[in-house]
Amino acid sequence: MAEKLWAGRFSKETDSSVNAFNSSIAFDARLAMHDIAGSRAHAAMLASCGIISQKDGLEIDRGLSQIASDLAADQLAFDPLAEDIHMFVEAELTRRIGDAGKRLHTGRSRNDQVALDLRLYLREQCDIISGEIKQFSAVLLDLAENHVETWMPGYTHLQRAQPITLAHHLMAYVEMMARDLQRISQTRERMNVLPLGSGALAATTYPLDREMVAKTLLFDTISMNSLDGVSDRDFAIELAADLSILMMHLSRLAEEIILWASQEVSFIELDDAYSTGSSIMPQKKNPDVAELCRGKTGRVYGDLQTLLTLMKGLPLAYNKDMQEDKEAIFDAVDTVLLCLPAMSGTIRTMTIHRENMAKAAAGGFTNATDLADYLVVKGMPFREAHEVSGKLVAICIRRGIALDKLSLKDFKEQSSLIEQDIYEAISLETCVRRRDLPGGPAPQQVQRSIEHARRRLASNP
Ligand code: ARG
Repeated sequence: MAEKLWAGRFSKETDSSVNAFNSSIAFDARLAMHDIAGSRAHAAMLASCGIISQKDGLEIDRGLSQIASDLAADQLAFDPLAEDIHMFVEAELTRRIGDAGKRLHTGRSRNDQVALDLRLYLREQCDIISGEIKQFSAVLLDLAENHVETWMPGYTHLQRAQPITLAHHLMAYVEMMARDLQRISQTRERMNVLPLGSGALAATTYPLDREMVAKTLLFDTISMNSLDGVSDRDFAIELAADLSILMMHLSRLAEEIILWASQEVSFIELDDAYSTGSSIMPQKKNPDVAELCRGKTGRVYGDLQTLLTLMKGLPLAYNKDMQEDKEAIFDAVDTVLLCLPAMSGTIRTMTIHRENMAKAAAGGFTNATDLADYLVVKGMPFREAHEVSGKLVAICIRRGIALDKLSLKDFKEQSSLIEQDIYEAISLETCVRRRDLPGGPAPQQVQRSIEHARRRLASNP
């Protein structure tokens, strides 16, 4: 075990069980590059402010940059016995450059250091996740584009309700993704605050140029209270909440994919490359990817719960409990980054059974509202029209036929207002085409919202 950098006041070795218990290197090693970037900015500032010599500043920078390239080239392994990534990098630096390395931690604490590293790391992950959401949205948009006239039933209570199109259905998810993108970008904005300079909790006695560090590391601003600077994890909680909502959206879509792929519904068939078989039932083709996304949603909710619970009882400022923040938020990020491409692939490759969708849309009296609306146009109050349409549906159910299979005589027996033009008025296509207002399923409206969504995606930085 490397000698502890804080061993000065101790007269006994740490118990080996405590070493293992205390160590976070197994999971915070992934912050290495951000830790190094933060240290380089800090050292450059120390040198520029005359707190350390220019020479030491340069040596530290050279040493850190070598450590970074060695790590990137797999030429340097993390010491599993190091207490955490911050200790590892600093010890490695001192091993390489000697005394200058010991000056790096001037005016800094691991408390503001870890707050910095986590912000740098999650800021980057926000960008990566946003990129994946955009790609996923593009897949939905491409599919929607091809299906603005693919009629399908829209549902409420999972009962056929009114006819829509597949494009309209998919575009609902594009809207959800747009809000997810917006949430993540707003979270990133609040996250983009430099905590370095907060020290352990009460800032530091050195005249640090915090603005300079903020500028180097591309932070918009600096934190305004040192206690808050080291003990705020809102940004991680907020991201976990954003990701929970995103996963909730993916999970709803996953649920629909699973349903649509069932033999009972048969709206789609999943590609062989995105489904799996059964070890016992030779006929099976299972929607595992969608099911796993639905299942993994629970993990991300759990991660959010972990973070909220972790923080709720902590007195100011730093407490070691906070070391537990990393695995939770890392897991949330990792899970989302697994699910988005998997769902993209599933949707990009699935086959759409248009005929089955149209048949389902034609079959469930999804035009009953349109029949009522027809009567309203002819002068009947809506409540009465609803009643008449309901009676006609009941007749059809008894005879086992669809509304458009009734004779004009059948119609007229319920209302003399009904004429020959009823057949055209309640045809599936008319029902969709006439829902022609912004946000509606009429093909030209959906086409417009597709174009709008494409422009919005392109303009999103
Ligand atoms: N590994 C620690 C964490 O993740 C770094 C900060 C340690 N600070 C301390 N005072 N022990 O929170």
